[in-house]
Amino acid sequence: MAQNKQILLAGRPLGFPKESDFKLVESPVPKPADGQILVRSIFVSVDPYMRGRMDDVKSYAPSVQIGGLMGGGAVGRVLESNNASFREGDIVQGMFGWQEYAVSDGEAVRKIDPDIAPISTSLGILGMPGLTAYFGLLEICNPQPGETVVVSGAAGAVGTVVGQIAKIKGCRAIGIAGGDDKIAYITGELGFDGAFNYKTVDDYGQKLRELCPSGIDVYFDNVGGEITDAVFRQINSKARISICGQISQYNLEKQEMGPRIILRSLLTKQARAEGFLVFQFSDKYPQALIQMAEWVRTGQLKYKEEIEEGIENTPRAFMAMLSGRNTGKQLVRVWDEGS
Ligand SMILES: NC(=O)c1ccc[n+]([C@@H]2O[C@H](COP(=O)([O-])OP(=O)(O)OC[C@H]3O[C@@H](n4cnc5c(N)ncnc54)[C@H](OP(=O)(O)O)[C@@H]3O)[C@@H](O)[C@H]2O)c1
Repeated sequence: MAQNKQILLAGRPLGFPKESDFKLVESPVPKPADGQILVRSIFVSVDPYMRGRMDDVKSYAPSVQIGGLMGGGAVGRVLESNNASFREGDIVQGMFGWQEYAVSDGEAVRKIDPDIAPISTSLGILGMPGLTAYFGLLEICNPQPGETVVVSGAAGAVGTVVGQIAKIKGCRAIGIAGGDDKIAYITGELGFDGAFNYKTVDDYGQKLRELCPSGIDVYFDNVGGEITDAVFRQINSKARISICGQISQYNLEKQEMGPRIILRSLLTKQARAEGFLVFQFSDKYPQALIQMAEWVRTGQLKYKEEIEEGIENTPRAFMAMLSGRNTGKQLVRVWDEGS
């Protein structure tokens, strides 16, 4: 009987997660009931928000229970369908979790057209991270031609897209990321106007003054912490700040203090900072995806993916992403259809 490999949460991490916080189990492949589909995943996504789900804290989404399946997006092929909306062979994307096979009632499952772009992009540039960049920049910050846009976490799945959309909109795009190779990639291949490596630069303020001589009009914050403190000191009057993520805080055992510097800057610059969750824009996804796919087709949006192999290596890929080993979107291939 075919077996389904799954990754469960074995324990709640204290600080940075480790291999022993996860457990690989095998069980028979489930049978789809009436109204359900059976999907075999091809790519599974690892994303920063999953770190929050591993903690037992109240948030916008429930925590994973100990012994529960690690949740997350995946894209795969429908092997069996008892649901009139899907046919055997369809490529679909949904929250199938860290496992090889999933049954689903089809709710919040979207069909993917493999002719538009490689199906892996449905978890990256043409999926949740790309949409996060799109709405977080355009809806929250309304960037105008000639303005300076700074993005932290600039070489990741969301950040790479933010800088490129800023360029499409006629802005100057400045990135902050944690590696010289990342800086070379975003300024070389992606066309950012400037960037710096926060792991080798000591004085972020000085570097920002050099790269943003007219100040900062828009800040897309993926990381929080000291990087964000430094950016806030350089914002212009009426700046707009999109609070997208705070990854520098996710693995801390003790929370840092804040946000005193930030509030004073907001006051004196009459600026606006707004947090958002991408799904608040879900009714606008279809239109945004058409635009994003067009930008990908014309080469105005480029993307990079890091692909780990095998469901058993999903925790490793997740931890690698959290520690910054990825440039672009981190994925795990769990089924090589060709083999
Ligand atoms: N609001 C929403 O709806 C929404 C949706 C999706 C994602 N997000 C947030 O957006 C951010 C980016 O997500 P993503 O999927 O694009 O991940 P990602 O950027 O592809 O990967 C995470 C990156 O975070 C950086 N990082 C890790 N620890 C850091 C630290 N202490 N200080 C600064 N940077 C650190 C690493 O890059 P470096 O090498 O540069 O350190 C790593 O590559 C995350 O904060 C995530 O939670 C929010």
